[in-house]
Amino acid sequence: MPEEKVMIFDTTLRDGEQSAGIGLTTPEKMEIAKQLDRLGVDIIEAGFAASSPGDFDAVQRIASEVRRPIIASLARCYIPDVEQAWRAIEGAARPRVHVFISSSDVQIMHQLRRNPEQVLEMAVASVERAKSYCDDVEFSPMDATRTDIEYLYTMLEAVIEAGANTVNIADTVGYTVPAEFYERIRLIRENVPNIGRAVTSVHCHNDLGMSVANSLAAITAGARQVEGCINGLGERAGNAALEEIIMAIETRPDLFGVSTNIDTRQIYRTSRLVSDITGFPVQPNKAIVGANAFRHASGIHQDGVLKERSTFEIMDPRSVGWPSNELVLGKLSGRAGLRSRLDELGYSLDQAELAEAFEAFKDLADKKREVSDADLVALMSSRRRRVDVPAVYTLDHVQVTAGNHDIPTATVRLIGPDGDSMTDAGTGTGPVDAVYKAINRIVQVPNTLTEFRIDAVTQGIDAIGDVTIRIESEGVAYIGRGSDTDIIVASARAYMNALNRLISAGNGHTGTTDPSP
Ligand code: KIV
Ligand code: ZN
Repeated sequence: MPEEKVMIFDTTLRDGEQSAGIGLTTPEKMEIAKQLDRLGVDIIEAGFAASSPGDFDAVQRIASEVRRPIIASLARCYIPDVEQAWRAIEGAARPRVHVFISSSDVQIMHQLRRNPEQVLEMAVASVERAKSYCDDVEFSPMDATRTDIEYLYTMLEAVIEAGANTVNIADTVGYTVPAEFYERIRLIRENVPNIGRAVTSVHCHNDLGMSVANSLAAITAGARQVEGCINGLGERAGNAALEEIIMAIETRPDLFGVSTNIDTRQIYRTSRLVSDITGFPVQPNKAIVGANAFRHASGIHQDGVLKERSTFEIMDPRSVGWPSNELVLGKLSGRAGLRSRLDELGYSLDQAELAEAFEAFKDLADKKREVSDADLVALMSSRRRRVDVPAVYTLDHVQVTAGNHDIPTATVRLIGPDGDSMTDAGTGTGPVDAVYKAINRIVQVPNTLTEFRIDAVTQGIDAIGDVTIRIESEGVAYIGRGSDTDIIVASARAYMNALNRLISAGNGHTGTTDPSP
């Protein structure tokens, strides 16, 4: 393994959370941060502390509880922003303040409405202020790929002089292409006199579908930090997908000559967790983590792989932690068997958690008889949802009648905030609609259902159905997920999950508000 390292900077909780339609609670952010820690990322950008009290709290909690990686908070080049960022991360074992300002003419003129000299002064003053609090300061010229290169040299030299230890060349609008970006990074490294005193980092957006390729080109030109998000989340078309960059580096050491500190076996689990929590599905043909990424459909390919894996597989699915779809447990399996399988999948549970998981497992095994790794992952996701989202209302009972000559009718019983049980009924255009109408009669929180999706966790008629929905209230989107072998129950759970998020929104929910960079 090459000795020279590339630092992996994860911004799923900041740029990723800026994806339209994502709004995470603090416990959900904590869950992702802990998994990023297990994955081995070097830096977690935990949020943009000055953007909302919810973001501030989440950054502060992550800073105090996740101790191995560097924890960064983003700040605009305004002193109050820098102060807020520092206050949020000062309890971290390894804090980093990340300041940014636009550097391209179009942004300086139209977005900032300043002149280049003023912007340079703001950049230097903010880096100096950040440095007065924190040894580790990162500076990003925003829209750097559309910035006059001489101005960029001047700005980078000035901020490094002011104390920036990392300079992050941002392709904010996903405008560049690999050959051009390689050249820009090479020129920066050649022409900024003090560049050797800072790590060169890159941050690429995916508007032209080239963010991963651009990031890799930059590594070849000497960048030693890459920023990105799990599953390629992020503003608009997203950021570079970290799992793709990591596996490209891992698979082609002959080309890149660098390595990372990542435990690649945690990739699949991280991707699942992020998709599960954000409600953003992973497309089946997505590299590394898509459902088809290691599936061979053509006979020639299957034959080749059976004879010699390397004929058509450049990576071993186990190296990125893909769970086998084989039958692992059944109705007669005991607690020890479940614990050991969950351990292998990376879930370490205490006694009480195991007891709860065992009960759910038995329930599932009764319905399904054969329980695969993928089922266990789905089971653990349901458990996590119950822990992460305050259960203001819980679903106690749901029953529907439907058919081609019946009016779909549902009866639901919910347990309310004070533990009281409430029952109501509704009719609708279909059974799910009827269930949602019945729930609405009890909960009475106006909202609009904007998305409804159902996926099967495994193949077969008895597969667990995984429902993802999105509801909107007062311009804010809330996602909900639920799973069960009965898709009506899964749909009811997903709705309860979304409603509980909406109801507890005042409580640390960050929604999809927009003070975004
Ligand atoms: O895309 C961008 O320019 C950013 C910066 C804040 C690094 O997200
Ligand atoms: Zn960005």
